[in-house]
Amino acid sequence: MSSKKILVINGPNLNLLGERETGIYGNTTLNNINSKMLEIAKERGHELEIFQSNHEGEIVDTIQNKRKWADVIIINPAAFTHTSVAIRDALLSVNIPVIEIHLSNIFKREKFRHKSFISDIAAGVISGFGENSYYLALDAADNI
Ligand code: DQA
Repeated sequence: MSSKKILVINGPNLNLLGERETGIYGNTTLNNINSKMLEIAKERGHELEIFQSNHEGEIVDTIQNKRKWADVIIINPAAFTHTSVAIRDALLSVNIPVIEIHLSNIFKREKFRHKSFISDIAAGVISGFGENSYYLALDAADNI
């Protein structure tokens, strides 16, 4: 397993994990998830950078700014999953393998969530395992 530089991006409203629709997204905070990811990454010798924004343009900027650094991008685009051609195009522009993740199983939910602008350009998708979706993505990143 080679050490990797992994960029983790979280989209809108994920900063409110732990208080937001806990029946769907659980009680864990984003800080807890981030700490655990950093711990796992450290054990495996990976470098991890974690970013959250409620703003589409800031996510595009981050993908662009980190394009020379990142070996893998793990992204939970949140609501932008279902709307953002701009984030799709940014990911296509940088040529870095992408792992799309969701806490909830988006296919079990409202129809508008079944469409993802990211899935068909991602290496793979992990959806429906709560906070474990993030840790499973780190396993996936090991083998990408
Ligand atoms: C989400 C699913 C999206 O449909 C939703 O807009 C989110 C979170 C998830 O992690 O399950 O904000 O990406």
